[in-house]
Amino acid sequence: MRITIAGTGYVGLTTAVLLAYIGHDVTGVDIDERKLELLNEGKSPIHEAGIEPLLISLGSRLHFTNDLRAAAREADIIMIAVGTPEKMNGEADTQYVEAAARTVAEGMVEGRAYTIVVKSTVPIGTNRRVAHVIQRTLDESGKAVRFAVASNPEFLREGLALYDSFYPDRIVIGAEDELAVDMLSRMYRPILEQTFDPPDVIPRREGYGLPPLITTDAISAEMIKYAANAYLALKISFMNEIAGLAEKVGADITEVARGIGLDTRIGPRYLAAGLGWGGSCFPKDTAALLAVGREYHYEMPIVEAARTVNVLNRTRILEKMQSLLKGVRGRTIAVLGLAFKPDTDDIRESPSIAIIKMLIERGAHVRVHDPLAMERAKDAFSASEQAEITFSSTPYEAAEGAEALLLATEWKMYKELDLDGLKKRMRIPVMIDGRNIYDPEKLRAMGWIYTGVGR
Ligand code: UDX
Repeated sequence: MRITIAGTGYVGLTTAVLLAYIGHDVTGVDIDERKLELLNEGKSPIHEAGIEPLLISLGSRLHFTNDLRAAAREADIIMIAVGTPEKMNGEADTQYVEAAARTVAEGMVEGRAYTIVVKSTVPIGTNRRVAHVIQRTLDESGKAVRFAVASNPEFLREGLALYDSFYPDRIVIGAEDELAVDMLSRMYRPILEQTFDPPDVIPRREGYGLPPLITTDAISAEMIKYAANAYLALKISFMNEIAGLAEKVGADITEVARGIGLDTRIGPRYLAAGLGWGGSCFPKDTAALLAVGREYHYEMPIVEAARTVNVLNRTRILEKMQSLLKGVRGRTIAVLGLAFKPDTDDIRESPSIAIIKMLIERGAHVRVHDPLAMERAKDAFSASEQAEITFSSTPYEAAEGAEALLLATEWKMYKELDLDGLKKRMRIPVMIDGRNIYDPEKLRAMGWIYTGVGR
């Protein structure tokens, strides 16, 4: 099938690579010339495991252009995967989605049938709006074209986006029109039946079954996306709330997580207490869901609380540090990890960045390290903040002369550190393990003043 994808960000690019790999003829469209240049050289503008070898191996099955109108004309399926940035009131801004829909309609020619797929995370009702915009554009130019619109939300985790694309937990198609359901089921058939040869760089895990296909109406599909992210975010916030109580009563939250996670009704994942959630989805999507609620004068105190706890979490860490050091003003604090989670260079809404800003605000000097996100992180700080940050090339360098160390992102390399070597470099060996990756007993035995989250 011929597929055009508008937007080559995390979602668009990963989907383009997936669909080309399973045999479709894919065109990725972007307006960012720098991105296109990189992509045409087989280089990825995003950090994703396995993406570059795949980009190179796909050859002519995957190409890139800046001309959406022309790319849409020849396509059977057009996927819209452009950004939906957060507006001041928390709502997701659909102007780029609508602009893409208009351009796609301008490219359509009579005598062909098109399926337009909304992949971007959009406010409830946007699919209906996209259909309206396309119809209006066609009417304006007097064209009679058969088209159908479908919602097909993604559930990709950054850093594991290709893995989640090849081996999804489920595929959701929200459409009223049979044309769209039929086209998308055909497009995803190799994934639904797992008939492709797994790429060497993204192997299939043992025991992976076939992913169910959920076909539903567009409104429900749009809601599935928001509800899934809000639920995961509140699962984590719930554990962070329990973690605070665990500290008071002397329980260990990692044991509590193990104990409740084995209940199949709860499940073991997204129960890790720590600095809380960040990234491009949970913060934005929970805000957008609340904005939808407000539009209908409908209160959503649970989603609201998940967000409140997530912010509280950050100040709690700071207070912990204050009480251990008897104040942070004039102190040197090491922070390991800037990315919002490991295996990505993404620092959007990263708890680590927020905490560093608060530390500087309270008069501390901060020495930071991250294996991947250092360059990107620099832009997140103002000039005066940067003057209070030492960007270090190794975790050991970051620890030099520090009076406390905050482990903020659970990178694999931080789990394998020479903790004795690290400790020797510090002025005061205070370890605040913001992701509970170290063994408290072991660290205390080594002479660290250790504190985790909820243990
Ligand atoms: C998320 C969803 O998982 C994905 O389905 C959706 O499409 C986009 O949003 P992503 O933002 O890439 O993906 O990250 P994810 O791995 O889900 O982690 C989100 C945040 O939660 C991170 O900040 C992570 O550190 C935090 N987290 C995750 C916890 O604090 N505890 C956990 O147990 C799990």
